[in-house]
Amino acid sequence: MASRRSAVFAFAAGILAAVLPGAARAQGNLTVYCSVQEEWCRPMMAAFERATGVRVAMTRKSSGETLTQIRAEASNPRGDVWWGGTGDPHMQAGQENLTEEYRSPRLPELQPWAVRQAEQANFRTVGIYAGALGYSYNTRELERRRITAPRCWSDLAKPEFRGEVQVADPNTSGTAYTMLATLVQVMGEEPAFTYLRALHRNVNQYTRSGAAPARAAATGETLVGITFLHDAVTQKIAGAPVNIVAPCEGTGYEIGSMSIIRGARNMENARRFYDWALSPEAQAIAGTANSFQLPSNRASPIPPQAPRFEDVRLIDYDFARWGSAEERTRLLTRWEREVRAGAR
Ligand code: G6P
Repeated sequence: MASRRSAVFAFAAGILAAVLPGAARAQGNLTVYCSVQEEWCRPMMAAFERATGVRVAMTRKSSGETLTQIRAEASNPRGDVWWGGTGDPHMQAGQENLTEEYRSPRLPELQPWAVRQAEQANFRTVGIYAGALGYSYNTRELERRRITAPRCWSDLAKPEFRGEVQVADPNTSGTAYTMLATLVQVMGEEPAFTYLRALHRNVNQYTRSGAAPARAAATGETLVGITFLHDAVTQKIAGAPVNIVAPCEGTGYEIGSMSIIRGARNMENARRFYDWALSPEAQAIAGTANSFQLPSNRASPIPPQAPRFEDVRLIDYDFARWGSAEERTRLLTRWEREVRAGAR
């Protein structure tokens, strides 16, 4: 009798599962704020849905914009996980108590730089990938204009590059903030701002999203686009006539990060996503989506196209300092006042 009854239940459950949109309903929901390229956000969310049956609602926004949104929603959080984007605003979010402390059981599998990121943020964030900053230029446009190929940061401030350089706005974009903090660390703060004011005269547009200038350099809409090197690789692999430059003075890098939003409505699923996103299987999705960062799990395959840190003159970027609320806010205010507001 008991077994007949359980057979009936199993049958009914089967019908229910067929009628409801998959096992998703049983497994609940998750809202993810995604700050990498849309092309990577989508397959990542789809793979998590397939692996767990959790239904994911995802929105893509740049790193600085996402921090602003999470802050605005703090009293009534709508997002559960913030996945991707540069580490500095994730660090600031932790400091502002906008994100939750969580220690994933996968931490011991990660690269030292990813664990260090977690430790410096009191486990309110963790490193999921890394990538160095630089720029790319359109070789056809360079030839047409008969300009000598740039190799350094200093080259981009020269008069022949007037109106030829594109970079994002550091308020919205983590990429552009990485550039700001990098130049301050490479040159010292006063020389960096002198340089940024000179560069400002050469900038044709401050975009919202960090990777947009790589696309613009690929199409020749701008001569030079300042982005992470891997964003330029995506364009080059697609056949764009671009050369990629790791600046001669040295450059900074990002530790792309992930955080759980404080007061997340779907806390259990947020942790599930977090652990899954640190797995080699999940991290392998990047390469298939033409995203060529260095993954944080030591067992994750490194895409062969990924720019290697060994080939770049990398600075020892101080993430704790430049990701602190105080310094990040101070630098952005100074940039707004002394650079953005200046004449071109
Ligand atoms: C691109 C890069 C990521 C980076 C992100 C930051 O998607 O591929 O590595 O983290 O930009 O975006 P943002 O728009 O904030 O500069």
